[in-house]
Amino acid sequence: MMKRLLLSLVTIAGAFTLQAQTITGKYEIPKVPDWAKNAVFYQIYPQTFCDSDGDGIGDLKGIISKLDYVKSLGVDAIWFNPFFDSPFNDAGYDIRDYYKIAPRYGTNDDAKKLFEEAHKRGMHVIFDYVISYTAIDHPWFVQSQKQEKNKYSNYYIWTETNWVDPPFEFAGQFVKGYGQRNGQFMRNFYWCQPALNFGFANPDPKQKWQLPTNHPDVMAMREDLKNVLRFWMDMGCDGFRADMAGALVKTRRVRGNEQFFNTNENETKLFWREIRQLLEKEYPQGFMVAEWSYPADALDNCFHVDFFHWFKGYNDLFQKESWRILNGVSEGHSYFDAEGKGDIKEFLASYMDQYNKTLGKGYISLPMGNHDNARLGNKRTDKELEIIYAFGFTMPGVPFLYYGNEIGMRQLPTSWPQVEGAYQPRNGARTPMQWSKDKNLGFSTGDADKLYLPVDPAPDAPNVAEQEKNPNSLLNKTRQLIALHHSEPALADYAEFVPLYPTGDGDPYPFVYARAAGKDVVLVMLNPRAKASDATFSINVKFKKTKVLAGDRFTILHNKKAGNMTIHMPATSYAVVKLL
Ligand code: GLC
Repeated sequence: MMKRLLLSLVTIAGAFTLQAQTITGKYEIPKVPDWAKNAVFYQIYPQTFCDSDGDGIGDLKGIISKLDYVKSLGVDAIWFNPFFDSPFNDAGYDIRDYYKIAPRYGTNDDAKKLFEEAHKRGMHVIFDYVISYTAIDHPWFVQSQKQEKNKYSNYYIWTETNWVDPPFEFAGQFVKGYGQRNGQFMRNFYWCQPALNFGFANPDPKQKWQLPTNHPDVMAMREDLKNVLRFWMDMGCDGFRADMAGALVKTRRVRGNEQFFNTNENETKLFWREIRQLLEKEYPQGFMVAEWSYPADALDNCFHVDFFHWFKGYNDLFQKESWRILNGVSEGHSYFDAEGKGDIKEFLASYMDQYNKTLGKGYISLPMGNHDNARLGNKRTDKELEIIYAFGFTMPGVPFLYYGNEIGMRQLPTSWPQVEGAYQPRNGARTPMQWSKDKNLGFSTGDADKLYLPVDPAPDAPNVAEQEKNPNSLLNKTRQLIALHHSEPALADYAEFVPLYPTGDGDPYPFVYARAAGKDVVLVMLNPRAKASDATFSINVKFKKTKVLAGDRFTILHNKKAGNMTIHMPATSYAVVKLL
């Protein structure tokens, strides 16, 4: 995945020690389209959301039939993983035709209808704009690999001969022995994902194959990609999520052992700024979300939002323990696990570094699961998940919720073979949505052995129909948290974020922070471990009483004189509290 690349891009800030933090209630609102202000997104993986025709694979008509459900969650927008024509070597990220819906999902008319139906319900839609590479059988690449020079020869990055390897700093990034042309091509992910040629930031004059960013063929390729964007915006999309957004323009810089994609951030930003300008001019309500994981770059006049998840601190939150359970490899402990051995300092250090660098420029998103990570519901109870969502819907930025997490869908077994490039834990996190207790848990009427991935075989596998009936189900708790995110000014995307506890080297539980907008102040207190926690922290806000907006019982002592507060939280609990 992008993990290696992005770890190399993230400069981990120095050790983070929390001083007494001051809540000011001040904030800056970044410029985003009106509809995206304070929006909550739901992520749909088309393969496994709903199968309308019984062929075992989800499709657009299936999604349309579930839009009322999506709307009922209280979300404002949907992000669709790629739905384009593809050989599916990487689950559709490998695009063969940018202008065509994959037949297994339906037709372009179905897509148009899907966007219209979402709009009718007041929801917006963004598509996956995957432009750092194409599928190996994309017609551009089919032309590019021909010996004869043609319009597409330079659309991809080819060395001059198959027999001479590119300089050592590109080790492992080139594929040799493919196609007619005497040269090696650069890949961006799997070998069958040839990198599109955005040019080199500092081409080596001795390596003629490294074209400058203003080479006419590079510019022509970029124009073609802009037309792809226009096509889907004209079809009714409201924006996009850019896959591997930071990995476009190449460089020959060497980064020790961390060299991977050799990308140049500054030149890559210039491209995204052009796209931002294009949107502002032609589609002023267009929204841009990056998979970059370095917000300080992504939000630098480029994107409105950056997914901040390919960095160590994010794993510290939810993933480490999951990896241990999945792979038997001990990678340490996650903060949001009941065993209570996690630490949140590394997360806070990286987060605060990026938060401070991007205030007023755009939003950081800490996704609540996605198709590349293990499910959050990996050996976690619904209550433990609810605490994670209480975090996700009360942090600054734009919340993204992965389909099925609202009912606590579980990570499925490691023993399954990979499907469409989804090696574990990815395939265990991409299984069919669980709608009911019916055949295939309501996902498909097809034969079980035809399904894209098997459904959760557990007798107590969670499902929507049952959870709808229970006011205290995770589904309904999730709805309440989404509603709270929308209703409280202090929980708005842009409202101030002030971490209050843990401080110093003491007990790392609970995690307490304030959100503030003007005079509105909300405290969020999270104790994910299965043991009670106490915390004392200083607080500079005057208040008379507290109002619990969500969560559990807790004890609060406010020492006005000393300006501090002591809280006692039961095991596995959280509270979102307004100071009045
Ligand atoms: C992104 C996608 C992932 C894909 C990879 C290569 O990380 O989220 O699913 O495999 O890029 O495109």
